[in-house]
Amino acid sequence: MKVLIIAGARPNFMKIAPLIKAVEQHNAGNPSRQMDWRLVHTGQHYDAKMSDIFFGELGIPAPHINLNVGSGSQATQTASIMTAFEPVCLNERPDWIIVVGDVNSTVACAMVAAKLGVKVAHLEAGLRSYDRTMPEEINRVLTDAVADLLLTPSEDANDNLRREGVPEEKIKLVGNIMIDTLVANLSRARERNTSQTLGVKNDSFAYVTLHRPSNVDQKETLGAIMAELIGLSHQIDVVFPMHPRTRKMVSELQIPMSNGTRLHIVEPIGYHDSLFLAERARFVLTDSGGLQEETTFLRTPCLTLRPNTERPVTITLGSNRLTSLGSLRADIEQALVSPERRGGVPPFWDGHTAERVVRELLAS
Ligand code: UD1
Repeated sequence: MKVLIIAGARPNFMKIAPLIKAVEQHNAGNPSRQMDWRLVHTGQHYDAKMSDIFFGELGIPAPHINLNVGSGSQATQTASIMTAFEPVCLNERPDWIIVVGDVNSTVACAMVAAKLGVKVAHLEAGLRSYDRTMPEEINRVLTDAVADLLLTPSEDANDNLRREGVPEEKIKLVGNIMIDTLVANLSRARERNTSQTLGVKNDSFAYVTLHRPSNVDQKETLGAIMAELIGLSHQIDVVFPMHPRTRKMVSELQIPMSNGTRLHIVEPIGYHDSLFLAERARFVLTDSGGLQEETTFLRTPCLTLRPNTERPVTITLGSNRLTSLGSLRADIEQALVSPERRGGVPPFWDGHTAERVVRELLAS
């Protein structure tokens, strides 16, 4: 069996790391049933701090192929990935491609493969925010529509796919691949000196990440969020590793960044530092999908600055809750006065998802 594994943007790297390890482990124990795999990096993310650092930290081998597409508008980026991936797919002639998550690289490669008659496995299938203003929601729906094997993280995802008429035999609940990476890396993350390096006290800081277009692309919204963060930094240290998109918008829209000494705006950080902060923070304020899941596993209170989430189990079972600009201050106050850890870990978020993915691929 020949498989192309696709990754392009930061959250993809945490998802392919355990997958590649599980494939290698399978190959080591099954000389007669090898999975011949190649890693394709689309180049959607290309900065060292958005890409290379994760390859080093997570022990991901160098990609066999890099499409080097870089940034662009939604259409330009998606089209560039498709154009660059088609000859690779034709050349490599894989039996399967595996796409992960919901970024432009995911949908672009899935569409190319489906049209060439190459089977598509989608890892993290079935998640729905039912909010088509998010580019990721369009990517999720389209990827699942062309996928042959839909590998889901939780029961709600299976329900969403059933409602869309996906045949039962294509849907496999494998669990959350991000948690494989978390479990494998938690002890290394705990050894980091992240709080000392940043100059904050353990257990007494807020960890903030914001990069969604809906939060950072408009002056009024981004300005109001930054003002809230500056206010919060008078009460508690605020650690905010700033995504390049957010930094670009702050500068273009001329948003005042800080007048509080306890607002720590830093460059994007690596996986281990992020995990360290996610575990030790009083609370996390984010619009990231991955952090909603990681905080659920770690039981760290999480405020998600979005009107919806495609990861509802993080709210029903986990420590996550939605917030809005209007309720942000009150929700932060609440988080500060009741920092106790709540919630539980959803089924199959156990560190063994990658093994189940390999099993399902071999059985398909
Ligand atoms: C993408 C994903 C989003 C994911 C996020 C994680 C889509 C539609 N969005 O959003 O789901 O949560 O990645 O980071 O696929 N840039 C750099 N260096 C880089 C990459 C980007 O400076 O290495 C800057 C560029 O100015 C670029 C902007 O960030 O235009 C946005 O990058 P892009 O890949 O288009 O989307 P993200 O916002 O990163």
